Parts: sequence; C-alpha cells; structure tokens
Amino acid sequence: MTARGARRLLIAFVSVTVLLLGAWLVLLREVPQPQSNDPSFIFNHGSIGNETTQGLPYWIWRVLPTVFADHLPSDQRGWAAIGVVWRPGEPLPIGFSQKTLGVIPRVSPNCAFCHQGSYRLYPEDPETIVSGAPGTRINIQGFVRFLIAAGQDDRFNSNTIMAEINRIYDMPLWERMLYRYLLIPATRSALKGQAADLAWTTTRPDWGIGRVDPFNLPKYTFLGLQDDGTIGTSDMMSVWDINSAAPTAHRRFSVHWDGLQTDVEETMVSGSIGDGMTRHSYAGARENLDVIFDFIGNAMPPDSPFSPDLDPGDPYYVPASDVVRGEEIYEGLCADCHEPSGQRFRTPISITELGTDRHRMDMWSYAARQAYSDYEEGYYWGFTHFQKSNGYLAVPLTGLWMRGPYLHNGSVPHLRALLTPPKDRPTNFWRGSDLVDPENGGYVTDNSADPYRFMWQVDTSVPGNANTGHTWGTDLGQADKQALLAYLKTL
Ligand code: HEC
Ligand code: HEC
Repeated sequence: MTARGARRLLIAFVSVTVLLLGAWLVLLREVPQPQSNDPSFIFNHGSIGNETTQGLPYWIWRVLPTVFADHLPSDQRGWAAIGVVWRPGEPLPIGFSQKTLGVIPRVSPNCAFCHQGSYRLYPEDPETIVSGAPGTRINIQGFVRFLIAAGQDDRFNSNTIMAEINRIYDMPLWERMLYRYLLIPATRSALKGQAADLAWTTTRPDWGIGRVDPFNLPKYTFLGLQDDGTIGTSDMMSVWDINSAAPTAHRRFSVHWDGLQTDVEETMVSGSIGDGMTRHSYAGARENLDVIFDFIGNAMPPDSPFSPDLDPGDPYYVPASDVVRGEEIYEGLCADCHEPSGQRFRTPISITELGTDRHRMDMWSYAARQAYSDYEEGYYWGFTHFQKSNGYLAVPLTGLWMRGPYLHNGSVPHLRALLTPPKDRPTNFWRGSDLVDPENGGYVTDNSADPYRFMWQVDTSVPGNANTGHTWGTDLGQADKQALLAYLKTL
C-alpha cells in the first residue's frame, strides 16, 4: 500500500471511530437517571433495562397513536386504546418506563405493563388501579400489531412524524436534526425488524386481551430455537404475595403456570431479558429490579368487596353461613393444593390428573429449558432453576376476585363456571372488562354489561383455549356449591 493509501485508510478509520463514539455518546450511553424512592412508582414506571432493544424515542412514542390512530386496536383515544391507564400528573401511562440513553429519552414497557389491574364495583365507578393484579385490560397483541402496522405504513416518514411532533412540542434544532435524520428512520427500520421477529404469531390463534404467549418469543429470537408450532397462550398472572413462593428449609416452590422456574429472582431476571434487557443494561437495571423483587414479594391485593357484613340487599353481600360452610368444603377438597400449608401447593399437578388444555405446557419444551438455562454464550446469568414439568401449578388463590377469567388460558369466564362440569361451561364469552360480576365472581363476561370497556370474545373451541379439566367441586350439591362460591368470592 502506498503512503497515501495508508493515510486515507487511517483517516477513514479515525472518522468511523469518532462517528461511532459520537453516536454512542448521543444515543446509547448509560447516564445517571433521576431516582425515585417510591417502590410503587418504580414498579409502575421504573426501567427494567430494555430501552436499548425496545425503547422508542419519547417524541415518536408520544405521537404514534395520533398519526396512526387507524391502526389502534380500539376506538379509545391515544395509548388508552391498548388498555393502559394514564393517571393525571404522571409522566407516562402505568406500565411504561422512561430512561434517557445519551441525550434521548426512550420509552418502553416494564413489569406493570402486564402486572397491573383495575376494578370497578358498579359501571359508573371510576377504576381503582391495583399493582400486581393480572393485567385483564392490557391488549399486548393489539400493541404489537399497532407497532408493526405503523412501521410498514408509508406515513412513517420524517415529514409526517415531525409535523405531528411540532404541533405539541417546540423542539430545539439539534434534537430536530437527530429525530429527522436518525431516530425516525432508525425506529421505522427497527419496527420492520420486529415484524420479522413476530411473524410466527400470525400462524397462531389470537391472544386477545389479557393474554400473551410469553415464551415463544424468546425461544424464536435470542434463544435461537426453530419454530416448533407450539401455542403458548397464557392468561396474565398476579404478582402479589410472591413471598409465598420463597423456599422453606424443607421444600422449593414453583412459579409460572406450568412451574417452569423454582426461583423468583431468576424468574424476574430472565423475564427482564425476555422483555429486552441485555447483559450491558443489567447492571444499570439491578437497583430497580431489587425494588421490584421486594415490592412483588410483599404486595397484597385489596380486600374483597364481597362480605357477610353488608346489607343483605347489597349485590356484594354473601351470607355468613355460606362463607363458613364454603370454607369447610374448601379445607376438605381444595386446601391441600391451594393453601401454602398444603402438600401440593405451588407444585405442578400432572396434566392427566388435571385435564386442562395442554398447549401452554407443551410450549415449554426440554429444548427451551436447556436453551434458557445455557443463555448466553460468553456470559453467565446463573440460571440453575429452570425445569420442565408435566402439568400446571396449584396456584395460591390470593385475590381471586380480581383474577377472572380463570385457569392458565383464561378459558373459564367466572368462578361459578369453574364449579360447573366442563361440558356445561360457557364456550363463548367476552373478556377485557374490569367491572366485577357480583353474581358469578370474576369480571363481567357479557360485552353488553360494560359499555365503558373494549372487550374481546373468547371461543373455547380454538386450540389453546379449551375449557376442560379441573373438575374439583363440580359434583357438589346445589347448596354446597353456592356456599363454596360465596367463600371463593371473599378470597
Ligand atoms: C408482556 C407481559 C409481561 C411482562 C412485561 C412481565 N410479565 Fe410476568 N408474567 C406474565 C405472564 C403472562 C405470566 C404467566 C406466564 C406463564 O407462565 O405462562 C407471568 C408470570 C410472572 C411471575 C410468576 C407468578 C407466579 O405466581 O407464579 C412472576 C413472578 C412475574 N411474572 C414477574 C414479572 C416481573 C418481575 C416482570 C418485570 C421484570 C414481569 N413479570 C414482566 C406477563 C408479563
Ligand atoms: C390436585 C390439586 C388441586 C385441587 C384438589 C384443586 N385445585 Fe384448583 N387448581 C389446581 C391447578 C393445577 C390449577 C391450575 C390449572 C390450570 O390453569 O390449567 C388450579 C386452578 C384453580 C383456580 C384458577 C386460578 C386462576 O388464577 O385462574 C381456581 C379458582 C381453583 N383452582 C379453585 C379450586 C377449588 C375451589 C378447589 C376445590 C373445590 C380446587 N381448586 C381444587 C389444582 C388443584
């Protein structure tokens, strides 16, 4: 090589390095964040380290639902259309975190996106928001489809997006340049990449509201497994009272619907990876994860509105004699599986004994267990508690009144239906409401009963939605069934 050639190469190399360093400083560098000491604020809005992979630049995130309103999954305005709640005075809807990388704030979903519920006792009531409740209104599929559709829409260009941003924010010149020439094109291309990562979802039944297939995504992306055609539709779980899963001197307890983990700490870290945290962002996220770990360990659901102390005319009144009789039945038929003191509490119950839909369980294969345990090459996450089970977990029934519809696939609309023989259970019902159903226990499942919520129809003949199995209590006499139902409503 001539001296001139070498010099050119050197200059090119130096410029590329300077550019990359500049880009890193401006766009990706971890910078100190304003800290909150409030655990519930951290649970609702704290970063779980997924901004580099999942974070949308704030102003793009902000205007997307306006520019692409026609791609939103319901006719509610803005991000409310995907079922999130934006409380007055808060920076973002619950379940979204904001973190600045370099100089650009980014927004991404956190644990509260899925693990935050709400309830109303009467249609006209304002919602009461409850941290750790299963997200019965969140429409993950609607969110994902919205982002994919936006990324594929030609209106996703710098002119259109900047015009919308300019309507609500007077952006300084330097930031405008970054958005126009870098962030908008880069976000569009990232969303196109997501469409490819999620292509497998188009060959599976819809999740609808309040459900997601949380493990096939990591399987087919960073774990590098081939699409095995499995259907892993899961109903959201509550994450209150998680200390009930802490090991004792004598035994370990499982978590997740099929009990695929026996360690809550690993569950949280691997879950964060599934949501987009990387080994590079882990150290920065650790402080928040510790707070979240403590928060979900100790959080408790609000007291049930059902009570014998109410006026007998009150729709939430349950007779004391029923509750007492119901508890007796529960102790005899159910407690060994569902009470922390029971032998089978938080252990997987074999699918043969249980008889519920097996798709979700089959989704978690030996190959998946192995791949997650070994993740990732060149870095040791320390995952030693993944397991493969042959059934579903005997879950605690804490806060049961806020957990409808029931079972791991949300295939049973309410508690009354769970105590009904499977062949007589409803095969079509609606979900997505947070209005409590005082008659049947759970939330209302008739879409005409709640004019204020967008609901989605469950069809139990669709693969992954079967409403079979779990027949305990279904052959009780009418009076005993009524008593058990009354007791379950008070949990
Ligand atoms: C995209 C939605 C989503 C997000 C985000 C999410 N989870 Fe979950 N989580 C679920 C679902 C669905 C389940 C049940 C999945 C299954 O086993 O099929 C679950 C299960 C759990 C469980 C097991 C509960 C039990 O009783 O066994 C814990 C603990 C948990 N999540 C904690 C977290 C934490 C901590 C975060 C944030 C780091 C988080 N989750 C983020 C959807 C989510
Ligand atoms: C042999 C253990 C076992 C017994 C006995 C048992 N259950 Fe269950 N229960 C389970 C398992 C396992 C699941 C999860 C099944 C699934 O989702 O596929 C479950 C789920 C449930 C759920 C749904 C929880 C949710 O969040 O959706 C309720 C409610 C419930 N059981 C109530 C009862 C009642 C009431 C009795 C007694 C009449 C009872 N169970 C007896 C093992 C048991």
